[in-house]
Amino acid sequence: VAFSADNSSVTATLPTGESVSVLLYGATVVSWKDKKGEEKLWLSEAARLDGSRPVRGGIPLVFPVFGTAPDHAQTKALPQHGFARSSRWEFLGKSTSESTPTPTTPAFAATATSAAGAVAAAAADMSVKLDFGLSSSGLSEDARAKWPYAFNAIYSVTLNTDSLTTNLVVTNDDDKSWECQVLMHTYLRVDDITTTTISGLQNATYTDKTTSPISSSTQSSPLLTISSETDRVYTPAGDSPASVPIVVSSDNKPKFTILRDNLSNVVVWNPWVEKAQGMADFEPKDGYKQMLCVEPGAVGTWQVLEPGDAFEGAQTIVLGGKTE
Ligand code: BG6
Repeated sequence: VAFSADNSSVTATLPTGESVSVLLYGATVVSWKDKKGEEKLWLSEAARLDGSRPVRGGIPLVFPVFGTAPDHAQTKALPQHGFARSSRWEFLGKSTSESTPTPTTPAFAATATSAAGAVAAAAADMSVKLDFGLSSSGLSEDARAKWPYAFNAIYSVTLNTDSLTTNLVVTNDDDKSWECQVLMHTYLRVDDITTTTISGLQNATYTDKTTSPISSSTQSSPLLTISSETDRVYTPAGDSPASVPIVVSSDNKPKFTILRDNLSNVVVWNPWVEKAQGMADFEPKDGYKQMLCVEPGAVGTWQVLEPGDAFEGAQTIVLGGKTE
């Protein structure tokens, strides 16, 4: 696994060509490429990558509040989406793993051809995990003043040949309890929003943040299509959040399958024409046609962490229609 790091970012590239880049600012994933070098995430051309404001694109991490919460005493002073996406994280290290290929039959293993095949399979199964850390002591004075609770967070970004996993573990290091929300604000790159469909949300209840006041509904249709500003917080049906994969398809071809672990909400966001116009860091202005935010999170309620408790949640984005 090729690896490069400097003062501001970390990049890892698998032997098969896939790569991921993570900014230390926000531990924001700013690029994820497949083996052909094709970018899978949308990143605004006007995104600031210098730490002067949260990154418009990639995967900003939302913690400890989703949006703003004027009625929530502990987080009401915080800026929109909290401080995780605008804090500098520490790079804790990388680990690679490679599974031993199992030849189909012993006879095959004896031939030169299958030995070569075995090497290819080993390469194909390689993965790299990058770990980042943030704790209360690493926060800016401003953030600490607005949210004076002791915590420790480990964010792991794992690149596989056909998937990307982001996993957050947050621990309460305080001697009193506190509450938080967590969300992975993934900007997927799509070919054409008008031919993009999202499955996995049928029968899910959602709140619609584009209406005033915010309204609640249940999605009856098996497929969601986007043809105007969309800003919904879904709570998919099902016993376990992990059991409902969200599939984003282009022209009916599955492009991304999103699996969730302990993240029971999914935000679907596309700013469309006017909201894109209104965001200085959103470029090109018609870039909303190439992006779709599908954001797994725990934002419907508050996660209450007692001293010493941890919350862990993860998303895995698989390329194509596979779920294993
Ligand atoms: C989404 C919210 O998660 O993030 C939207 O549901 C919000 O309401 C969007 O507009 C972008 O937020 P920001 O702070 O990055 O502009």
